[in-house]
Amino acid sequence: MRRGWKVPALYLATTCTSSHFALGFVSHQLSTAAKASAWKPASSLIYGSPSSGSTFTRRNMSSEVVPAKDYGPTDQSWRSLLEVSMARSRKIRGSNYVQISTATKDGEPRCRTVVFRGFLNNKNLPEDHPMSASGNVDGKPCVMKMCTDLRSNKVAEVAHQPISEMVWWFPKTSEQYRVRGSLLLVGDDSGDRDLQIARKELWGNLSDPARESFLDDKLPVPVGGRDDEGKVVPVPENFLLMLLDPIHVDFLRLTGAQYRQIDERQSGPDGSTWSAKSVKP
Ligand SMILES: Cc1cc2nc3c(=O)[nH]c(=O)nc-3n(C[C@H](O)[C@H](O)[C@H](O)COP(=O)(O)O)c2cc1C
Repeated sequence: MRRGWKVPALYLATTCTSSHFALGFVSHQLSTAAKASAWKPASSLIYGSPSSGSTFTRRNMSSEVVPAKDYGPTDQSWRSLLEVSMARSRKIRGSNYVQISTATKDGEPRCRTVVFRGFLNNKNLPEDHPMSASGNVDGKPCVMKMCTDLRSNKVAEVAHQPISEMVWWFPKTSEQYRVRGSLLLVGDDSGDRDLQIARKELWGNLSDPARESFLDDKLPVPVGGRDDEGKVVPVPENFLLMLLDPIHVDFLRLTGAQYRQIDERQSGPDGSTWSAKSVKP
């Protein structure tokens, strides 16, 4: 195992500090809202980003939460469900580890653990950017950030077949998310200024050991990925921002009455909308 991947706690304290605080806050808000909300079975629902002009068939969808002892059909998008799952597990070591699959040129599957590093802040992306806010659900960004090394096998695999599936298991709440979409690797060769900014930001937010692991072909290795004055060194070629742009999410909750929901994204000229349906089994 690379040394840098062993530090999720530090990662939480650096990369995700603000978003986890936000999640905690959201979780509190959601729990409060849940007490007031009645639970109706939802066999099918449609929602989309307010910016895309689509209608929500159910109001307040993002402000409801499944009460701990009342699992069942939900009225929420995968993104709102995930927000709650993350908040409930945020203190658990490794709760931000996800598995990412790729395929080799011969069609053989490959799967590995990586660290989920939050959602891409797409608020300031131009409207016509492929990852703009029009792909949001319930006003929340959906593009998932990770990072990887240019020297790893997945780079060639993604170039050949960008479609990937991420699996995220939350043992505390017995929930699984299978998130399918395109993987995009952002390295030195990417001319996308906005994504380069996100790449640089993520580089700066890594823990020192994680940063060092991308520089281990340099002699001498800059300790902690910092220069003599303690400043973070420039983003090295090996460091890639890895983005998963979801189009299909399969959610399964095993606690209580088993519940499965499939969310799908449809892209249109005015942006994206998501729809969801509960399925059995
Ligand atoms: C807990 C844990 C976290 C990891 N996090 C990452 C990560 O964030 N990014 C990454 O590229 N590899 C990470 N790795 C290493 C990968 O699992 C994998 O070994 C590496 O990416 C090479 O895979 P590949 O050659 O198939 O591309 C992690 C491994 C473990 C065990």
